[in-house]
Amino acid sequence: MRTVNVDLDDRAYPIHIGSGLLQAARLRELLTPHLPGKQVMVITNERVNTLFGEQLRTALSNLQVDVFEMQDGEAHKNLTSYAAALDSLMAKRHNRTTCVIALGGGVVGDLAGFVAATFQRGVDFIQVPTTLLSQVDSSVGGKTAVNHPSGKNMIGAFYQPRAVLIDTDVLAHLPAREYAAGLAEIVKYGVIADPELFAWLQAHTAELNARDAGALQHVIQRSCEIKAEVVAEDEREHGRRAILNFGHTFGHAVENLAGYGAWLHGEAVAVGMVMAAAFSAALGRLPATEAERLADLLNALQLPVNLHGAQAQLPGVDDMISAMGMDKKVKDGRLRFILADAIGAVSVVEDYDAATLRQVLKQFCES
Ligand SMILES: NC(=O)c1ccc[n+]([C@@H]2O[C@H](COP(=O)([O-])OP(=O)(O)OC[C@H]3O[C@@H](n4cnc5c(N)ncnc54)[C@H](O)[C@@H]3O)[C@@H](O)[C@H]2O)c1
Repeated sequence: MRTVNVDLDDRAYPIHIGSGLLQAARLRELLTPHLPGKQVMVITNERVNTLFGEQLRTALSNLQVDVFEMQDGEAHKNLTSYAAALDSLMAKRHNRTTCVIALGGGVVGDLAGFVAATFQRGVDFIQVPTTLLSQVDSSVGGKTAVNHPSGKNMIGAFYQPRAVLIDTDVLAHLPAREYAAGLAEIVKYGVIADPELFAWLQAHTAELNARDAGALQHVIQRSCEIKAEVVAEDEREHGRRAILNFGHTFGHAVENLAGYGAWLHGEAVAVGMVMAAAFSAALGRLPATEAERLADLLNALQLPVNLHGAQAQLPGVDDMISAMGMDKKVKDGRLRFILADAIGAVSVVEDYDAATLRQVLKQFCES
């Protein structure tokens, strides 16, 4: 097992990464130091509960363990599920020393974190992420949220977990698309901060596609290290943390226009990164060959690199621009982009040429 620490003073926490962490005895050992009382509320969904819930219940058999199953899918990361989870905490008479454990992917983790942040003004919270995307991204860093019908993640809080437990064995159960979607976020870390990671990914696509245990341990740990380092420097996204959104301004618009569910988040981020790299190249910031290297890597990892496939018809340029305007990264009415200067270095850019943006969007939306 490897441990990465998120260095946030009194809110610092460990991310434990390894194989077999969900075995009951190991789990008990890892969870116990972080449990403040005798109650635990596991927030999960039916699918994940069936796969791994029993291990968690066995590990904590000496405590009051209640389980709230939300419905599966992004469409249920909403205020209705949030209220139902709170109802369950109230009905089971949980008190301030309870601990919320998120057992599932990013949808469960984001919702459970927001429940923990707000129940009785905040109770302890542990993340047990079970998708690759949640292991390398959403479980670390303390962004919690639910969606509003007019925008993704519009209602939420910054709220750090007490610990994150990543068992790499759970990834064997993931459907292929979900697995690839997680790889997209790992590629993102290479682009924003680590050219060596990027080159390593290029050299090990076969192992990654085969879900090789050693390769996964390596890339999950490196991704968590980069995310932990960025979050420790800028917890509330006043500056540097925005680089984690590389590809997301385009990606969220793609996701939004196709209707939530058509694209997986990581798939939309993959194509969003290709668009951001193309925009960077068109502005003369990034050599076109580097933008191609990115698209080639994503393609080799079985991720989408254009807008075909997941939606019946391509979005229009104006639709994309307006959908990007809904993004939270908009500041004072001007879009902000995370653009690549090289593989391994990105900048936050507000001053860009709007005509070039339209031109780049046209390439993706019309061909
Ligand atoms: N908080 C953050 O910083 C942050 C960062 C990135 C993404 N997110 C959010 O994360 C969400 C996406 O998360 P996701 O990609 O994990 O999707 P998800 O939570 O919907 O999980 C994907 C699917 O996999 C299933 N599943 C989970 N673990 C499994 C396993 N081990 N085996 C088989 N099936 C399993 C789930 O039930 C679900 O059907 C989005 O809502 C996104 O906004 C948040």
